[in-house]
Amino acid sequence: MIVARSIDDLRAACAGPISLVPTMGALHAGHASLIELAAVDGGCVVVSDFVNPTQFGTGEDFDLYPRDLDADAVIAAAAGASVLFVPTFETVYPTGFATTVEPGALASQLCGATRPGHFAGVATIVTRLFGIIRPVRAIFGRKDYQQLIVVSSVTRDLALAVEIIGAPTVRDPDGLALSSRNRFLTADERSTALAIPRALDTIAAAYVAGERDAAALVLPALEQLHAIQLDYLELRNAHDLGPYEQLQPAIALVAGHVGKTRLIDNIELAPDAERVSTKEFA
Ligand code: PAJ
Repeated sequence: MIVARSIDDLRAACAGPISLVPTMGALHAGHASLIELAAVDGGCVVVSDFVNPTQFGTGEDFDLYPRDLDADAVIAAAAGASVLFVPTFETVYPTGFATTVEPGALASQLCGATRPGHFAGVATIVTRLFGIIRPVRAIFGRKDYQQLIVVSSVTRDLALAVEIIGAPTVRDPDGLALSSRNRFLTADERSTALAIPRALDTIAAAYVAGERDAAALVLPALEQLHAIQLDYLELRNAHDLGPYEQLQPAIALVAGHVGKTRLIDNIELAPDAERVSTKEFA
C-alpha cells in the first residue's frame, strides 16, 4: 500500500478504475469492512484519511477527534487498500476555495437539526474528493445512514459519475456499533450506551411481529433509552428518509449523548423480513 500525500502521488499510484472509501481516520473494523468490500471489485482501492473541519460545528470535537496515521496505515493495508490518501488541508481547501454543496431539506433534519452545516460540510468534502480522486464507485457505511442518503442525493442531483454503495454496520459482540468515538466512553458509559442497540432491537422485534403503528413501535424503546441524553429517536422511510410509511421499507434512527460522547445508530425494517436484529452483525 502506498501512502499518498499529494494529488500527483495519488494519480501516480493508481492505474485502472478506482473504488474510494472516504474516512476521517481512526480506522476500526467498520472502516476495514468497507475497504474489504471495495477490494472485491479489484482495481485501485483508495482510502482517504482526512479529518474534515468544515463538517464539525463550534463546540464539537474537531480538536479532540482521534488521529493515528500509523495505526490507520496498518488497518487499511490489511483490509486491502492500494493507496492511503492523506491530503493536507491546503490540498483539500486551496486558497480561494469558495464553493459549498448544500444538500437540501434533509440536511436540516435528524442529525442536521442539532448539527447545522454538518451535511453541507460532508457534501462539499465528498464532492471535492470525488473530483480529486475520480472514483467509479464509493463505499459508505449504513451506520451513518443519513450521510449515505445525503451523499446519494448529491451524487444523483449533480450527475456525478460515481456509484454509491452502502455497506452494513459492523458491531462489537455486545451490539454497540463501532465508531471512532467509542474510545472516549468510560466502562460505565459503554454499558449505558448498550441501551441504543437494545432499543433498536426492541423496535425490530415488534416490527417483525407485525406492529406497524409508529407510536407503539417507538414508545417502549424510548423508555429503554432513559439514561441517554437523546437528540432523536425516529422512524422514517428507509428509501429517502421521508416520513414513515407503514407499507414501505422503514428505518429507526437514534442519536444521543452518553456523557460527552455523541453516538448514532439505526436499524432497517423491511415489511417482509422474518428477523431483524443488531445481533445479526455480532
Ligand atoms: P468516518 O466517520 O471516518 O466514517 C467513514 C466511513 O466509515 C463512513 O462511510 C461511515 O459510515 C463508515 N463507518 C463508520 N462506522 C462504521 C461501522 N460501525 N460499520 C460500517 N461502516 C462504518 O463518515 C465520515 O468519516 C465522514 O463524514 C466522511 C464521509 C469521510 C467525510 O468527511
